[in-house]
Amino acid sequence: MADLRVNFFGVPFKNPIVVSSIETSDSIDHITKAIDSGVGGVVIKTVTDKPKMSELTRHSKYVVLDDKGEIVKGKIPRFFVFYARSGYSVRPPEEWASIIRESKKYADAKNVRLIGSVGGSTLDKWVELAQMEEEAGACMLELNFGCPHPSQMDEEAAGMLLGQDPVAAAEITRTVVKAVKVPVVVKLTPQVTDVVPIVRVVKEAGASGVLLINRYTGFAVDIEEGKPYLDARAGVGGPWVRHLALRWVNAAYLETGIPIAGTNGIYDWREAVEFIMSGATIMEVGSVLMLKGYEHVKVIIEGLEKFMDRKGYGTVDSMIGIASRRSLTYEETYRLPAKKAVIDEERCKVCGQCVRSCFQDALAKGDDKIVTQSENCIGCELCYSVCPADAISFRTV
Ligand SMILES: Cc1cc2nc3c(=O)[nH]c(=O)nc-3n(C[C@H](O)[C@H](O)[C@H](O)COP(=O)(O)O)c2cc1C
Repeated sequence: MADLRVNFFGVPFKNPIVVSSIETSDSIDHITKAIDSGVGGVVIKTVTDKPKMSELTRHSKYVVLDDKGEIVKGKIPRFFVFYARSGYSVRPPEEWASIIRESKKYADAKNVRLIGSVGGSTLDKWVELAQMEEEAGACMLELNFGCPHPSQMDEEAAGMLLGQDPVAAAEITRTVVKAVKVPVVVKLTPQVTDVVPIVRVVKEAGASGVLLINRYTGFAVDIEEGKPYLDARAGVGGPWVRHLALRWVNAAYLETGIPIAGTNGIYDWREAVEFIMSGATIMEVGSVLMLKGYEHVKVIIEGLEKFMDRKGYGTVDSMIGIASRRSLTYEETYRLPAKKAVIDEERCKVCGQCVRSCFQDALAKGDDKIVTQSENCIGCELCYSVCPADAISFRTV
């Protein structure tokens, strides 16, 4: 039976699935449900002294779209689009001190790590909120430099605006790290040209790990009404976005070596495995729990366990970063052995789909079969993806 325990820079988790900082952890009742779901950890909704970030949450709006861009009414599809506006917690820091204290006892009893989340208005407030969460019992803290909404509001020095500002990111990280004893993780925004330099900056400033990566700002159009859904831009994500998140997990894993928590686009165990193989140690899950309930945690954890048993991975550690370590530079891929497409004539239905998708003039439709012009084939493999009969393979030349 696979061992799901992980150690995130010294903090032990009974399994690598964590409820992210979102509505599912914004009250004592929700935190209790999150703890009961079986996760290894729960991050509280970001605590702030910034009134505008709480006001946004009082005006929260959410819509779930399908892959066509229409509102899902009912069953949540695997490739859902979660278009949403919600800020930081509406509860004042004093209330959070008692919520954390109370939840901490229950979390400890269930061997679940309770993680703080901070979004302050000034350097002093970052420290004050961090110390409050630490003193109340949070075993580590997340600094929210990733929230996409401040860029859309008349709100300065919050969320992603900090993740885009290496000087501010370093200063806040360094100051908070010095002011608390618990480890500090920095949650970053993908909305920069390159995330890696920011990862390096916060690592040098003393962050024990990074959380990669928060959501994007999007624009979703209701074509029937000729206006945006939710009347404005909003944060956007869903399982389809994970490849963009994984790209930064992959880069940070290979280029910085910092411990990584992954987030953005986990639907079930498959995406969790993708994050682990890219280099993440723990995985933070949010939207899918808002849409499918805390019960869905079980699906993720049991699926992960079954996958590991099926593939013979005894521990999560043995999977961390394995795909990233096998990822090559573009130039290295040029030196891989050349391949040419081969058609299995028994399987081929001569539908011509491969010909339509071959832009190298390497495939042509004959009278009763697909004809290959091997000298033109560069082994791009597009025909393999589009063949409905699975009739194409490749020979190494
Ligand atoms: C409605 C909503 C509210 C969120 N609130 C917070 C927050 O208060 N603090 C924070 O750090 N991240 C917040 N996030 C980001 C999530 O914690 C999570 O990192 C992100 O949604 C990606 O994970 P997912 O694809 O599993 O949802 C929020 C996301 C959504 C959709």
